[in-house]
Amino acid sequence: MIFSKITGTGSYTPDQVLTNQDLEQRVDTSDAWIQARTGIRQRHVHAPHEKTSDLALMAAKRALKSAGLAPEDVDFIVVATTTPDMVFPSTACFLQAKLGVTRGPALDVQAVCTGFIYALSIADQYVRSGAAQCALVVGAENFTNLLDWSDRGTCVLFGDGAGAVILQPGNGPGIYSTHLHADGRYAAQLSAPGNIQEGEIQGKPTVHMDGGAVFKFAVRILDQVCREALNANQMTIEQVDWFVPHQANVRIIEATGEKLGISPGKVVVTVDHHGNTSAASIPLALDEAIRDSRIKPGHKVLLAAVGGGFTWGSALLEI
Ligand code: ACO
Repeated sequence: MIFSKITGTGSYTPDQVLTNQDLEQRVDTSDAWIQARTGIRQRHVHAPHEKTSDLALMAAKRALKSAGLAPEDVDFIVVATTTPDMVFPSTACFLQAKLGVTRGPALDVQAVCTGFIYALSIADQYVRSGAAQCALVVGAENFTNLLDWSDRGTCVLFGDGAGAVILQPGNGPGIYSTHLHADGRYAAQLSAPGNIQEGEIQGKPTVHMDGGAVFKFAVRILDQVCREALNANQMTIEQVDWFVPHQANVRIIEATGEKLGISPGKVVVTVDHHGNTSAASIPLALDEAIRDSRIKPGHKVLLAAVGGGFTWGSALLEI
């Protein structure tokens, strides 16, 4: 039986750092409020010339390097993003060209903050079936493009960045399982309600959110989808070495960890210095914890995310 295995990881955050103190100059907020309600201290913001595919390119190059591979080895590219370079072509196609890859499919996945788990799940199916030998899976966001900088309820929460993993076939796990869900009835609770009609922007394509409702749904559903992954593999939470959840808010992460019964020392938290980078948050956190040697080969890692849609999902894997 073929499994897919993560053989390399990489990530990138833009140079510009926006601190809570910087935000105090823009809106009626305070470092104390932001830290107490979200755990966020700072976030990265892309330079005007940096497109989402540029962030993805940096993360992809680092992931390929850590896997000991070259761009010509890649035969499948999937990019999870809510903030594509343009309406079309896909950000994955821009990334493919910038990397110099000329074969295999390249596609974007739009599942907002759950995007990376969706992309990982799709790539896993291709690698397991033998249809791909070297999949590049990226979560990349210039999410600050979607912010109304006068709305203190949302502009303090998000940041930009990218993370990538390489998936290749292996004889053992690898990825044990992935679990994806969506319920479009919740669309209005978290959205960027704008579109293009007859060549003109309609509506307001900035983040609109019912923060309290999102918070409650997130904690309930993350616990549920993590248990689904554990049950599917007859594992207990004690057997998991690391939990890498979507990095939206430290209170959501702590509440989920408590519900799951996992010790806080096994939870990777990066939201304090990245903010919420949507589809990029999990691969950014995963790469950070692998590079600083917290996550080691053989460790079992549980990933889980929830986002606009609502969408949600989990992945249980061995590094
Ligand atoms: N600075 C200071 N005060 C603020 C700010 C701010 N940046 N934002 C809101 N406030 C005020 C509100 O106006 C309100 O004032 P009032 O009491 O005078 O009306 C007060 O703070 C409390 O506001 P709440 O919205 O009730 O604060 P809450 O404790 O719920 O925290 C937050 C808000 C942080 C948005 C929280 O609801 C949350 O984290 N929700 C989850 C949303 C999230 O993470 N979304 C990310 C995308 S979804 C995802 O990734 C899963």
